[in-house]
Amino acid sequence: MSIIFSGIQPSGNLTLGNYLGALRNFTKVQHDNECYYCVVNQHAITVPQDPKLLHQRTRELAAIYLAAGLDPEKATLFVQSEVPEHAQLGWIMTTLSYVGELERMTQYKDKASKRGDSIPAGLLTYPPLMAADILLYQTNYVPVGDDQKQHMEITRDLAQRFNRLYGEVFTIPQILLGHDGTRVMSLQEPTKKMSKSDDNTTATIYLLDNPKDIEKKIKRAQTDSENTVRYDIDCQPGISNLIEILSAVTDKTHEEIEAAYAGKGYGVFKKDVADAVISVLEPIQNRYQELVGDPELDRILDAGAAKAHAKASVTYEKVCQAMGLFRK
Ligand code: TYM
Repeated sequence: MSIIFSGIQPSGNLTLGNYLGALRNFTKVQHDNECYYCVVNQHAITVPQDPKLLHQRTRELAAIYLAAGLDPEKATLFVQSEVPEHAQLGWIMTTLSYVGELERMTQYKDKASKRGDSIPAGLLTYPPLMAADILLYQTNYVPVGDDQKQHMEITRDLAQRFNRLYGEVFTIPQILLGHDGTRVMSLQEPTKKMSKSDDNTTATIYLLDNPKDIEKKIKRAQTDSENTVRYDIDCQPGISNLIEILSAVTDKTHEEIEAAYAGKGYGVFKKDVADAVISVLEPIQNRYQELVGDPELDRILDAGAAKAHAKASVTYEKVCQAMGLFRK
């Protein structure tokens, strides 16, 4: 039995990328492992958020976790800000981080470049908070999409740095990539990842999109004039993205998909991709509608925060002892 931790930011409507790259794997590993899944609302505030919307999205994200198949009897589901050790250890991890290594993070560079002179310092110190999330639970594996590789590397570096300086307190976690490290790309700019914060909503399939919209978006997805269903990221990035999506939802290999669509046009292929995506998302959407207004959701989150706190406080106490952050 391993310890698993992962988190998703409540910073927008969840996308097919979040589901295929991360959420789907959370439910797969919950049966044989000790799992902690978190709504990382303190990460979301590294860029400005509307308070009402953040509150609403936090609840919605928790309901989506459950609708996607997370079993609260098996896994611990909680909200980051309700377990104070995250921010407490986050500060300690910040003191161990070097400005240079934080400035080299590609996610920081991308997000900072859009903020002119007013770059929130929290964008820079995002990775030490993420490291704290993971290390508090003595995590062995972190299921995430491949865009989180760099954050996982710095988490491991910080854990090793701490252990070297203050003694062996932290388990060194490993990344757990799903289905070939699925990275779902934008439907309109297929060289860019599909993102919940993309302004162009036709580029993104949201988990709660209705079937008609899903079909429309996939039909209009940017492709090429080759008219051959072939996986070739460099020459046919749009079609390759759709092959990757179909492969992830049907568990078929790229080769099996290429063979099935040999001699057929993009129209037939796109219709099948849309049908396959809809058949995976529809049951999640139905469960979500039942869960989101249910007071049971609060009971699950309260119990989750208590369980997470019990585990996190043990590690945090060890950290304080190791560093001399205690009086008696
Ligand atoms: P976030 O909220 O951006 O995304 C949540 C998860 O979805 C994955 N993902 C994708 N996978 C494939 N294709 C895509 N287009 C795509 N877009 C997003 C992400 O890899 C992620 O696994 N830093 C994290 C949140 C976090 C966290 C943590 C994760 C904070 N603390 C501790 C794990 C452990 C993030 O921004 O995820």
